[in-house]
Amino acid sequence: MRMMKAGLSAAACAALLTASMTANAVEPEDAIHYRQSALDVMAWHFGPIADMAKGDIDYDADEFARRAQNVSDMAHMPWEGFVEGTYQNDGHGVDTDALAKIADNPDDFQQKQQDLIDEAQKLAEVAQDGDFATSRAQLSKVGKTCKSCHDDYLAE
Ligand code: HEC
Repeated sequence: MRMMKAGLSAAACAALLTASMTANAVEPEDAIHYRQSALDVMAWHFGPIADMAKGDIDYDADEFARRAQNVSDMAHMPWEGFVEGTYQNDGHGVDTDALAKIADNPDDFQQKQQDLIDEAQKLAEVAQDGDFATSRAQLSKVGKTCKSCHDDYLAE
């Protein structure tokens, strides 16, 4: 049994090593496609609840809570697609609006991700209570985190 465990963990180490080597070799095209897709999925859920907040469509508490949870789940995901060599003018020839200055400001870019993650999590929580005014106020805070990052790091 002991031997088998040792054998298994050696295999697991080898697999991890391969995985990290693969991660380094990720193609710019794949990373860009990944992050844009994740952002699109997040926006897919954010759009209707923003429309509810604006009064463009009727408030539906269950629907709002479900989509807020999806935004919160997605808020973690796009960022691993933002890697070196994938920004504008990096010579990969893929269409992206991600400005090259992201690479020069990693701490700030990461802080802005965290702001979104935190505010979206709060939104998912307050939305559970189904109180429109509270949900709307918190949604506006989430929207500000999108805007704050886009203002600095998204091409016009
Ligand atoms: C930490 C920074 C940051 C935050 C926070 C952020 N975004 Fe973005 N977003 C970007 C960048 C950079 C791009 C450009 C990605 C690209 O073109 O490669 C982008 C692109 C997008 C796109 C276009 C994706 C595509 O298909 O080209 C959508 C939609 C989007 N964001 C929605 C949102 C929404 C909605 C929020 C808030 C709920 C948000 N973003 C929060 C940085 C951010």
